[in-house]
Amino acid sequence: MTDNSISVDKIQDCLGAHPWASLIQVFDEVDSTNTLAKTLAAQGAPEGTILIADRQTGGRGRLGRSFLSPGDVGVYYSLILRPGCSPGELMHLTCATAVAMCEAAEEAFGFRPGIKWTNDLVVGRKKLGGILTELSLNPKTGLVDWAVVGIGINCRQREADFDPSIRDMACSAAMVLGQDADRNVLIGTMTKALHRMSVTLLAAKDAILEQYRRDCVTLGKQISVVRGDEVFHALALSVDPEGGLVVRLEDGTEQTVNSGEVSIRGFYGYI
Ligand code: BTN
Repeated sequence: MTDNSISVDKIQDCLGAHPWASLIQVFDEVDSTNTLAKTLAAQGAPEGTILIADRQTGGRGRLGRSFLSPGDVGVYYSLILRPGCSPGELMHLTCATAVAMCEAAEEAFGFRPGIKWTNDLVVGRKKLGGILTELSLNPKTGLVDWAVVGIGINCRQREADFDPSIRDMACSAAMVLGQDADRNVLIGTMTKALHRMSVTLLAAKDAILEQYRRDCVTLGKQISVVRGDEVFHALALSVDPEGGLVVRLEDGTEQTVNSGEVSIRGFYGYI
């Protein structure tokens, strides 16, 4: 029988001599790898610390949502960064992470997902994964003390494995490939792509956002924008230099919506 467990040794085999290879920790079960990463970051864990779990009991998504994280099938991954810049210079961190994940999936599996603005990885009309970035500022300097980049990827699920509440909207790498998908290989390519991203994050912001716009499947689509109890329809026009989504409303006016305050839906479904 094939052993599909996540293991530090197998990940390190994929990585070879990589600066972050010795900073990887794998857990059978945690509440949330992001929550654990935030605790360790506050205790001084270095940039490149990577926490991976086989399952999460309290996986978190954007806007306070939960992220279902069953064992044996997904990759639940959090990385600590210490970019030492102002928070304003990191507005594109989620976008940069999404582009890195497109590269990682392409290298591991040979298909490139799309990005549903701002933080969902999609294949066709279905969600493959999501990203949750969290920051802490140094109160004295006002600079970013640490950032935690959290990524959840559906890897090995078959359609029937998804909870009925999300089955119509979710897919996995194995469903795309038509065969099992190796989580250790994906974790290796994720780590390499995130390291490249961390090196170029500040200097190559424009190029990163250009690639984000190419990968973003939301642009050009009619969408519903949900802000609290308010819902309005709009056309997604572009992604601005900070990662905000520029939309045209039905009255012809344009607005930039921010990922911290709104979620979007395709006019006819999830995408
Ligand atoms: C979303 O879909 O809104 C984002 C989901 C992010 C999930 C990942 S799984 C690893 C890390 N730990 C968490 O609790 N959340 C992120």
